Amino acid sequence: MRIGILGSGLMGAKLGRIWAACGHNVKFAYTRDPAKLARLAQDAGGAAVSVAEAVDGAAAVLLAVHWSRIHDVLDQAGELAAMIVLNCCVPLDESNTDLVVGTSTSGAEELASLRPKARWVSCFNTSPSESFAPVFARKDDAPRPHLLIYGDDAGAKEVAGGLIRDVGFEPLEAGSLRTARFVEPFAMITAELAYGQPGGPALIYRFEKLNG
Ligand SMILES: NC(=O)c1ccc[n+]([C@@H]2O[C@H](COP(=O)([O-])OP(=O)(O)OC[C@H]3O[C@@H](n4cnc5c(N)ncnc54)[C@H](OP(=O)(O)O)[C@@H]3O)[C@@H](O)[C@H]2O)c1
Repeated sequence: MRIGILGSGLMGAKLGRIWAACGHNVKFAYTRDPAKLARLAQDAGGAAVSVAEAVDGAAAVLLAVHWSRIHDVLDQAGELAAMIVLNCCVPLDESNTDLVVGTSTSGAEELASLRPKARWVSCFNTSPSESFAPVFARKDDAPRPHLLIYGDDAGAKEVAGGLIRDVGFEPLEAGSLRTARFVEPFAMITAELAYGQPGGPALIYRFEKLNG
């Protein structure tokens, strides 16, 4: 599958590397440092391109930029009409300490209103990037860690679910895009557990229902 990565930092670079290792055709984009992007692409086995080129012909794109960069990257990406967009962005302020949107709306819903023709699906926003490589390495172990996925487009969620499984997570269906109002604050807790508590940042989670 051809995947465009819009924002090739901690999230985009790590997920793009894994998807390239799975055999996907990965196009990395959006940087202040084109030489770094070129090194990443060469190392990962993908290509370094412009945002417009990453979107063009992609079966799915990953949006992985700081909230403050959203308008800039969307301006470069265009309308994203009919494009499946995996959104992992948390609507954070400049200091990354507070949500700037919520809880009567959410970052995910704001993005969908900015690009209403895109097929939005939210995922990867509740797991620190440091978890991706260890989860990928343990892909054959059961049970797999969960990853919350939500959105209004069933087909987009199915495609995203495949990409989530490629990394080694089990997608956990969590409802519509509106769920973002509550998941985005939850993402702040996962960040606190990952970075603010002992034991290292490779945090994973799994929800279970007890029967009987
Ligand atoms: N990191 C995590 O573990 C984590 C977990 C859950 C959710 N998230 C969310 O995922 C999103 C991405 O996070 P991240 O940690 O991957 O961010 P990041 O490492 O800061 O990466 C951001 C990307 O945007 C590019 N960029 C930044 N400013 C730019 C500019 N002015 N012009 C062009 N490119 C620019 C960076 O390129 P260069 O640095 O190469 O210039 C980089 O490719 C955020 O919304 C965050 O809240 C992150």
